[in-house]
Amino acid sequence: MNDVQNRNDLELIVKKFYEKAIPDPVIGHFFTEVIPIDWDEHIQVVTNFWDSMIFGTSEYKNNPMSPHIHLNSLSKMQKHHFEKWLALWTATIHEHFEGDTAREVINRATSIARIMEFKMNP
Ligand code: HEM
Repeated sequence: MNDVQNRNDLELIVKKFYEKAIPDPVIGHFFTEVIPIDWDEHIQVVTNFWDSMIFGTSEYKNNPMSPHIHLNSLSKMQKHHFEKWLALWTATIHEHFEGDTAREVINRATSIARIMEFKMNP
């Protein structure tokens, strides 16, 4: 298996992640019922976010916390939701990539999820 090397690899991770997350019984409803999502646009925005995090591009200019604070006000995001989100994210990466950058994508997500969870449940 290869390491994560470019934006296309990140886009693949994002797409494969949502193939798991959308039908998921624990977190799927956030994406299907709580927020109506334009999937083509959302996949590009989230890929931009990861491209900025991992490869230092500046395509992503939003604050990723803001939409989640709004989401949390509509439907409470709890510890078990974050755990499931992270489990699916980590599993997706392990299924397709291995190496330092793959580990970085997992580690970054883990720390952001912890901060996000703390902000939602202070
Ligand atoms: C329980 C965990 C999570 C759930 C249920 C969740 C759900 C969502 C939903 C429904 C949106 C769309 C919001 C909107 O368009 O108004 C969104 C956007 C996004 N999420 Fe999450 N999320 C979770 C955790 C995370 C984590 C841990 C990260 C990063 C590591 C992340 C990264 C993003 C990004 C980058 C966007 C796009 C924000 C933008 O529009 O600028 N999410 N998320």
